[in-house]
Amino acid sequence: MVFMSAMDLDEGVHVLDDHDTGLNGVIAIHSTALGPAAGGCRVWEYSDQAELVTDAIRLARGMSYKNALAGLPFGGGKAVLMRPSGDFDRAAFFRAFGSSVAKLDGRYITAEDVGTTVADMRMVRDRTRFVAGLEKNGSAAGGDPSPWTAKGVYESMKMAAQGVLQLNLKDAKVAIQGVGSVGAGLARLLAAEGAHLVVADVDEARAAGIAYELGALHVGADELLGVETDILAPCALGAVLNDMTVPSLKTRLICGAANNQLEHDRHGEDLRLRGIVYTPDYVVNAGGIINVAAEYLGETTSDVRKRVGQIAPRLMRILHEAGEQGVATNVFADNLARTTISEMRTCAA
Ligand code: NAI
Repeated sequence: MVFMSAMDLDEGVHVLDDHDTGLNGVIAIHSTALGPAAGGCRVWEYSDQAELVTDAIRLARGMSYKNALAGLPFGGGKAVLMRPSGDFDRAAFFRAFGSSVAKLDGRYITAEDVGTTVADMRMVRDRTRFVAGLEKNGSAAGGDPSPWTAKGVYESMKMAAQGVLQLNLKDAKVAIQGVGSVGAGLARLLAAEGAHLVVADVDEARAAGIAYELGALHVGADELLGVETDILAPCALGAVLNDMTVPSLKTRLICGAANNQLEHDRHGEDLRLRGIVYTPDYVVNAGGIINVAAEYLGETTSDVRKRVGQIAPRLMRILHEAGEQGVATNVFADNLARTTISEMRTCAA
């Protein structure tokens, strides 16, 4: 296995390459200033290695900021692996990944992300203890983090809709892009509230199934961003808010689970100038990592519930203060995260 480090971000990109199992990707560590770098493992088809590495670096930075603002004693990192083409031995693949995590000796702690499951993390656990997102036992925190992510996004959306748009969710039209683990959970919470839903997924059958279950409108994945809505919830992949999409969005509030929704930081300012309220992704989607962290630290479900309940009020403070200062919400949140990391680092020193 080739295993090397390139210092092109704070703490390194570790390249994973195991021919026998098809393991190919990187673990990017952005910061361990506040504790071990915690962040999930994504398995996806990238067009090339450069795209994969760029995604890993951006996602790792987002994890540092997310963990810091959520008050977790962890830094930020992310594993991003190329999905092998065709059939592959999933158990062997994730055991090999577990061996790579083990080599970092606790500097990086992994869990689920797009393309990975609790069963995959069990294979990782065969090789390393630096993994969470395993089965839940009794009142201890654990299990699939997605429901907690969906809950944090839902509560944030509800509070922001009321506080910023003066709109109750039961009267709101909400478009959800991607109805996978988090998007489907969010859709169910919103449907229970009486929101009017429009859903789309590149997996048409998945979107059709959720639409049928919840009585939602189902549109094609390429149509969703053009639909006129009160709220847009990106719950698929990153960079969905970009030069192509921002000018033509027909929504008033963006609140979703996807990491790195803005292709570039400047798109946050573009949204602000268009009068669209952007809720910073890593602020509202922290529920999953809160659950993962609690599992790793041996805490309970009620600890998780309490911390997830703090996400929406934190978001409102950020929206309020960014508005007062007349800056884009993502810029305000990034500055706050960097200040938090440096203050906590100073306190610990
Ligand atoms: P998932 O893999 O279960 O679902 C993603 C869904 O998006 C899939 O159904 C996929 O077919 C769909 N999709 C991909 N590209 C699309 C497109 N262009 N248009 C419409 N649909 C598209 O992933 P999961 O776990 O639901 O995560 C969703 C997002 O939330 C990801 O960006 C992830 O990084 C982020 N996130 C997830 C957390 C979790 O607890 N699972 C925690 C924090 C963030």
